[in-house]
Formats: sequence, structure tokens, C-alpha cells
Amino acid sequence: MIRKIVQIGNPALRQIADSVDVNQIQSDEIQSLIDDLIETMRNANGAGLAATQIAVPLRICIIEVNKNPRYPYKPDIPLTVLINPKVTFLTEERIHVYEGCLSVPNMRGQVDRCPEILIEGFDRDGQEVSFISKGISAGTFQHELDHLDGLIYTDRMSDASSLTTIDEFAEHYEEKFKDQVINIVKKYGS
Ligand code: NI
Repeated sequence: MIRKIVQIGNPALRQIADSVDVNQIQSDEIQSLIDDLIETMRNANGAGLAATQIAVPLRICIIEVNKNPRYPYKPDIPLTVLINPKVTFLTEERIHVYEGCLSVPNMRGQVDRCPEILIEGFDRDGQEVSFISKGISAGTFQHELDHLDGLIYTDRMSDASSLTTIDEFAEHYEEKFKDQVINIVKKYGS
């Protein structure tokens, strides 16, 4: 079922989501919530979606990038379901990337993200997962995990003047940013 994605200003986006009881991951309730997140994300051409964005305060988020028309420069990420995810930064380095969000319609803004992270959590089968993500993709994961702590990318912007509509982004910044992305992908592999 496609759910309504709440927008910036909705208090649901500012809630710190509750951990999921790992013994409940296989329940119909959690499994259908995950199916709804996937359907809702794909319907909106999102690169990810967190349960808080459909006003469900549980620590579940999904990420998928497959030649995304909203983010044509993003490297692909296979569908990843994360439950109770934790992130560990593996480097002091930061990359400066433009992000957007389905809960902040029509906008892009620059944020600093760690380009090498360890993610640990559970998948939809209740199995423990642990993997390293790098580069642009690492930023995508951090964006979604932030939602579970009530954070929106606009909170992470060090320079508010980089906030731009998508049309102005395409006209003034996208070409330059695509070159930055190529360099980030060269350096970090994704
Ligand atoms: Ni978002």
C-alpha cells in the first residue's frame, strides 16, 4: 500500500524512532510495513525512505538506487532494508554533497557526510547485517539513518545559502556537482 509521506514541519519527522523488537521482525505488521515503505519509495522515485517519513516511529529504513531519475548521478545501491541500524564513522574525512528528501519537496542543499562508514543492524529476515559503505552511497545511508533520529538534511547544512529548488539546482549547480560526484566515485568506488 502506498502511504502518505509527511513533509517538513510535521512533528512525526522530529520523533526519535523506537527500536524494533527483533523477535517481531517476522510479524505480519512489520513485514507489511516494510512492503509499504518499498512501494511508497518506488512510487515517489525516492533513493530511500524511513518509517518516520510515513509517521511510523520505528527504526526501519530502506535504501535503493536504481538509475534514479531524481538523482541521475547517484551510483546504484541494491534494495537494502535496515532495522535498528547503527552507523560508525571510519574516517575523519568529509565529502560535500547535495541532498534532497521526499519530505522536503522540490529542494536540494549541501551537507557534509562521512565517506566511509560501517553500518550494523538487522535485515527483514531478522538476520544481523554488517557492511561498509563508501562515498556518495555512504551519504545516502547517513541521510536515511538520520530520519530515525528525527533529523532532516537541512539540519546538517553548514551553509544555508546552498539551499536551492531542483530547477535552480539543475540550471546552476548540477553540472559542477556531477563532476564532484565523478571524483568522489573515483576516490571511494561508489
Ligand atoms: Ni529524506
